[in-house]
Amino acid sequence: MSIDAKIAQLRALREQARLGGGPKRIAAQHARGKLTARERLDLLLDEGSFVEFDMFVTHRTTDFGLAEQKYLGDGVVTGWGKIDGRPVFIFSQDFTVFGGSLSETYAEKICKIMDLAMQNGVPIIGLNDSGGARIQEGVASLAGYAEIFTRNVLASGVVPQISAILGPCAGGAVYSPAMTDFIFMVRDTSYMFVTGPDVVKTVTHEEVTFDELGGAVVHNTVSGVAHFLAESEAECLDQVRRLLSFLPLNNAEDPPRRPCDDPPDRMDPELDTIVPEVPTKSYDMHEVIRRVVDHGDFFEVMAGWAQNLIIGFARLGGRPVGIVAQQPAVLAGVLDINSSIKGARFVRFCDAFNIPIVTFVDVPGFLPGIAQEHGGIIRNGAKLLYAYCEATVPKLTVITRKAYGGAYDVMGSKHVRSDFNVAWPTAEIAVMGPEGAVNIIFRANLERAEDPEAERQALIAEYIEKFANPYVAASRGFLDDVIEPRQTRPRLIAALEMLENKRVSNPPKKHGNIPL
Ligand code: HXC
Repeated sequence: MSIDAKIAQLRALREQARLGGGPKRIAAQHARGKLTARERLDLLLDEGSFVEFDMFVTHRTTDFGLAEQKYLGDGVVTGWGKIDGRPVFIFSQDFTVFGGSLSETYAEKICKIMDLAMQNGVPIIGLNDSGGARIQEGVASLAGYAEIFTRNVLASGVVPQISAILGPCAGGAVYSPAMTDFIFMVRDTSYMFVTGPDVVKTVTHEEVTFDELGGAVVHNTVSGVAHFLAESEAECLDQVRRLLSFLPLNNAEDPPRRPCDDPPDRMDPELDTIVPEVPTKSYDMHEVIRRVVDHGDFFEVMAGWAQNLIIGFARLGGRPVGIVAQQPAVLAGVLDINSSIKGARFVRFCDAFNIPIVTFVDVPGFLPGIAQEHGGIIRNGAKLLYAYCEATVPKLTVITRKAYGGAYDVMGSKHVRSDFNVAWPTAEIAVMGPEGAVNIIFRANLERAEDPEAERQALIAEYIEKFANPYVAASRGFLDDVIEPRQTRPRLIAALEMLENKRVSNPPKKHGNIPL
């Protein structure tokens, strides 16, 4: 064969590989409202940057007539490319080949790029669209999944791992995305569950649709499995790009700084009046965050789940930071089981990847109730406490209003090794709120009083005067300063500068034992 013929053959093979399961199945994919594996890569990666690996790999199975039915690439497109000029390793599951189901060789392709990502300190992105284990491959497929799971765990905290769910993701296959750092889902076209509607019906007699059981809305609002909800695949892939802009490539790097034309000394007088004078009135903490961070640009994570706690990424003076903040407008910003879990995982992610944590505190305490106690608020609240205590990245805390009880300790207090703690003059820091405190410590006085209600009000006023302010904490050095709300941005940016070279490490150990 001449070289020209050989090159023509190579080109023909490449063309064949690019067609995956063929034009009919591609048309069916489009008819389902989904893009193909390669169209997704084109949308996500910088133009022309994708370098494919293992295009000629095919499966080894001969059972069930599969010896004759082989597709170049075997149902997954793998390789590396760039996002905003920075490298990522990526796999994109091809539903047009055996429903994107995972064979032994398919798993080997994914493992190869995961190994490369870890060795080279580069993030891993998985675009998931798969019918799960390839049924014809039996245990070889299950083995393939376990090889991937193991790498997910080894890569955890070394390189960021991102999963976009763009179609089915079912059975044990869900556990690879579940062990990555962030899960993105698309409304109406993606779903995740361990057992599908048919099995659910057989076992529990419950009737449920795919979407009701494990659709994007459910996992973003009810289960807390997913972190981002997109209206379309294009929007989803845009969100992935945006997320990466805040993250370092690996745990040995600092997050990427950007030049910032939002003045670091910008003060915002509106902040002075954002906290209502009536302590029981709520306000929107998003507003506080937006007024403080660069250009008001806040990328919220898990926006639809446990909304009493807000988490997400922003920049201050061009430096990426992770924001953790109570939301007084939802359940008065109380800490409960779900918000503790939400905050804990986020704090640990930021800590693993050198992203400073900025905490805005307005917390009345932990949520009382039988459901919370029986649901394990002790074990789950401890997760957030553990995460804050453990974190060694720069930690900055602003108390805007309430910081009561154990929640004061948890939310980035000085005592859990926070570096820069300030409060607004509206802050109230105490073991509990005035009414509860007076009822307990002055019970005898109230019983003896001629006019108990008048006495109670007088004692509450006295308690507020004494405790519901930031100055007791400031006089002990538990706060570094009390600041005017308008000064929040400049003071936080200056503190980040001060903490630029922070080096604190935890005692050597195999790993801690976070209460799971
Ligand atoms: C082999 C599969 C497959 C699978 C789908 N296909 N799933 N082939 N193994 N797991 C093939 C179909 O035969 C079909 O081939 C093509 O993919 C498209 O599938 P359709 O059923 O036509 O598509 P659709 O109607 O959209 O339904 C998609 C689906 C359904 C809901 C995913 O295919 C399905 O239920 N598949 C089985 C899912 C499943 O139970 N997987 C095992 C989960 S357990 P043709 O040739 O017609 O195009 C698991 C364990 C992991 O994954 C364990 C890890 C520890």
